[in-house]
Amino acid sequence: MVETEKKKVMLSGIQPSGDLTLGSYLGAIKNWVERTDEFDNYYFMADMHSITVRQDPAALRRRTLEQLAQYIACGLDPEKNTLFIQSHVPAHAELGWVLNCYTMFGELSRMTQFKDKSAKNADNINGGLFTYPALMAADILLYQPDYVPVGNDQKQHVELTRNVAERFNHIYGDVFKVPEPYIPKVGARVMSLSDPASKMSKSDKDPNGSIYLMEKPEDILRKFKRAVTDSDTEKCVRYAPEEKPGVSNLMAIYSAVTGKTFAEIEAEFDGQGYGAFKPAVGEAVVETLRPIREEAGRILKDKAYLESVYKAGAEKASYVANKTLRKVYKKVGFVAR
Ligand code: TRP
Repeated sequence: MVETEKKKVMLSGIQPSGDLTLGSYLGAIKNWVERTDEFDNYYFMADMHSITVRQDPAALRRRTLEQLAQYIACGLDPEKNTLFIQSHVPAHAELGWVLNCYTMFGELSRMTQFKDKSAKNADNINGGLFTYPALMAADILLYQPDYVPVGNDQKQHVELTRNVAERFNHIYGDVFKVPEPYIPKVGARVMSLSDPASKMSKSDKDPNGSIYLMEKPEDILRKFKRAVTDSDTEKCVRYAPEEKPGVSNLMAIYSAVTGKTFAEIEAEFDGQGYGAFKPAVGEAVVETLRPIREEAGRILKDKAYLESVYKAGAEKASYVANKTLRKVYKKVGFVAR
């Protein structure tokens, strides 16, 4: 890349609504780390999104800081990536309101995440849960990113963001860059250890399905030993996601943490049953997560350092975000402050 060429902008966020999992690491953060030098990166803790579902305040605060410490421990260098807490950059709320007025009731009604979450939280179907995608559009459009790396479950929200941006641009001229979703070619989609048909999720009710980044080695090993394998009769380690989703998920994890190909893994465990394979995956995961857990623990104790990171991040993010916000306010007819 030519030195003077401007890097493309990449942005993503994770809600601190649950503890980060091995899935968050292998499916998202590890890829962010690898792309650090190639892009101009913004990564944030989406705490404002988290309160669309009731949260325990102390736990939300703890998880937000823990998430930041874990980002850094996973290798996201705060000098090269703008790491910030969403609620520290008021432009998110401000643009979120404006975009609410350019997002249609019908569009929001079609969001599958809204339908899922309202089914799960029938006693708290609040306005924020419904208009969540307008805030997410603001999160994104403020930074004029080229790419938004998200999992499949968030593709619909990025599509909506594109529609809102195009609608706004159509009325007011080119205000927003219309971003592309970025689905990494590699990067494991890690499934639950207790139900390989569903994604490993930080909000899973069954703690045995997920491996958390801060989890103790003995708990990780126990969960892998108990991981659901398949009821097929061959009982051998072979990659076949349709027929053998449990074993294939464990192979994907093992491959992601060791760098071995599926063929190499099949050869390594040739003639051995699941009984040898499952603890081996557990051990490999323990060794991958050990330095991350230790480093995150160390960073978490250094409150002054953490604070300096999120303050600098909010300042850098605000600078960029406010530029876009000022443009938008002017376009819609607000008097300049
Ligand atoms: N909605 C995303 C999720 O639940 C989190 C998120 C909020 C996000 N704002 C974003 C992701 C902007 C990418 C870009 O996973």
